[in-house]
Amino acid sequence: MPQTLSELVSRRFGEQIELDREQPFSDTHLLQLQHRSCRRFLQTPVPEKTLRFLFACSLSAPSKSDLQQVSIIHLESKASRDFIHSVLPSMPWIKTAPVFLLFCGDSHRIQTVCEMHNTTFAHDPLDAFFNTATDTAMVLQNFIIAAEAAGLGCCPISAVREFTEQVAKFCQMPDGVYPLAGLCLGYPEGTRDISVRLPMSASLHKNKYNEKNLKARIKDYDKRREEINPYESQRQIDSYGTSESYGWSSDKARQTSHTERLSFKNYIRKHGFRI
Ligand SMILES: Cc1cc2nc3c(=O)[nH]c(=O)nc-3n(C[C@H](O)[C@H](O)[C@H](O)COP(=O)(O)O)c2cc1C
Repeated sequence: MPQTLSELVSRRFGEQIELDREQPFSDTHLLQLQHRSCRRFLQTPVPEKTLRFLFACSLSAPSKSDLQQVSIIHLESKASRDFIHSVLPSMPWIKTAPVFLLFCGDSHRIQTVCEMHNTTFAHDPLDAFFNTATDTAMVLQNFIIAAEAAGLGCCPISAVREFTEQVAKFCQMPDGVYPLAGLCLGYPEGTRDISVRLPMSASLHKNKYNEKNLKARIKDYDKRREEINPYESQRQIDSYGTSESYGWSSDKARQTSHTERLSFKNYIRKHGFRI
């Protein structure tokens, strides 16, 4: 297992970077480079005090125009946990995680503020939706960093959006509130390897978007990914058959070749965002 910052970077991206020795690096950087989602949990409970502290860290994230459009719903009761497991039985980590949270975009609170001051909420619906979604994603990521720093493991669950109507109804979400993602939380059972990423050169641009050699870079990444994190199974074998070589790009091309979560768009349009 690589330990130093530069070893972690090279493991993640397959690229060497030179570290500036004058720059102070901290455990936060080490933690970020070692991030991995966790899907196997010990049954050790997460103390309530720890959870409250993580909420404080997470809700300290930046917020667009300070609108603070995020709500977190802790599915705590047995009935809530049984419900969320029943809608997503294909992800057993939702059942076994000691804690399950829903990170929600929340435009309802600001609309209440408008009511309090006799104004009408008139932001463009698409922009309003993005403001809630980006704030919520930042709070979610802040939570993950805080949790990993406390020795906990997390797995975000966007699959809750496949059942937005049911989840929103169960949690009695008012119009303007929607689940962006769930989050499984608990103490990890064992460690798994980090998931390697595209080379940074594929994602970083200077001044102008540069897609030179993009396909070649993706092919190189496929090879590295297959060596380090091979896929355990292939998607949509009925449509595409079984491939001898199955890298990241094969998996993602198959994954994105069918429309997902149309019901989410319909829910959003009916409940608070006339996009
Ligand atoms: C917004 C978001 C939604 C995700 N949804 C799911 C999910 O529904 N189920 C799941 O098992 N993992 C989910 N993940 C975890 C990703 O699969 C994981 O982050 C990705 O494979 C990279 O692995 P790593 O986090 O270990 O680096 C989600 C991650 C993000 C950021």
